[in-house]
Formats: sequence, C-alpha cells, structure tokens
Amino acid sequence: MSLPKRVVLVGPMGAGKSTIGRLLARELGYQFMDSDRIIEERCGANIPWIFDVEGEEGFRQRETAMLKELSGQENAVVATGGGAVMRPENRAILKQGAVVIYLKTSIEQQVERTRRDRNRPLLQNEDPEAVLRNLFAIRDPLYTGLADIVMYTDRKSPRLVVRQLVNRL
Ligand code: S3P
Repeated sequence: MSLPKRVVLVGPMGAGKSTIGRLLARELGYQFMDSDRIIEERCGANIPWIFDVEGEEGFRQRETAMLKELSGQENAVVATGGGAVMRPENRAILKQGAVVIYLKTSIEQQVERTRRDRNRPLLQNEDPEAVLRNLFAIRDPLYTGLADIVMYTDRKSPRLVVRQLVNRL
C-alpha cells in the first residue's frame, strides 16, 4: 500500500474531523494536525475571541496562513475548519499533494454534535440549525468538488469510519 504524504479532512462543523483525524493518524502512523487548534495555540486565544476582536475576516486570514504552512507537512493528517473550503485560494492549497476526504454528515447529526458548543461563534444565535442548513447548501458542493473520497459518517462509530477510510486510501 502506498500512502499519500498528507491526508486532509474537510466537512462541516460536527462532522467528526478532529476525532476521526486523530484516530486515522494513529492508524497510519502519521502526525495529527488540527488547523483550528494550532491557530488558537499560536494566537494564545480561542476562536470566539479571535472572531470578537478581529472579526471573521481576521480569522480567515489566519486560517489561510495556517493552511499554507500545513501544506508543507508530510506524513500528516490535517483537520480543517468547516469554512476552510470557502476561499478558492484555500482549496488550491488543500489539494496540493494530498488526498482530500470529505466527512459527509446529515444536518441532524451536525446539530446533535454541536449542541451547546460555545467554541463555534457562527452557531451562537437562536437558530443554529438554520445556520448549519444554510452553510451546508453553500459548502456541500465545494467539499464534494474538492474531495478524492466522500465518506458518510452518520450512524457509524469513529472506529468504523477509520477502518473504511484505511481501506480506501
Ligand atoms: C467554522 C468552523 C469551525 C471554525 C470556525 C468557523 C466554519 O471549525 O473553523 O468556528 O466556518 O464552519 P469546525 O468545523 O472544526 O467546527
């Protein structure tokens, strides 16, 4: 089996990118790198703070810079934030030398997995489900267009998803 030098996970909030990414990296003997978490470490602040102080645009600039940096990594599984596919520039960066996996997840599961989550500024309003639905309508074609592999995650344990992914790499 010849493995890709980098595996990139894309998909909406609540798709399981971090959980599955960590397990997949362990399975492949790769390092796991989570774009959002590294941005937070570098910034010394969490994502809600970055959105508050710098606006979404400030966060997106940090995100593009981080994705560029991570595109130099080898033997790595990279988890991206749900909005990473919005900028054409990011899509080109993510694709470079990587196998891109779209973790496809129903709105119901996204709602369930992000319920009462305070770390996602886009969902801090009275109708997070409507937000997730709107984002999905815009982003699903972008995730699909970018992906080499589309993997459904509903009603599957992270372990099962990882087993199915390893079989398809
Ligand atoms: C975002 C998703 C979040 C994070 C930020 C914006 C989005 O990442 O990058 O809150 O635009 O969908 P997760 O998908 O890991 O929650």
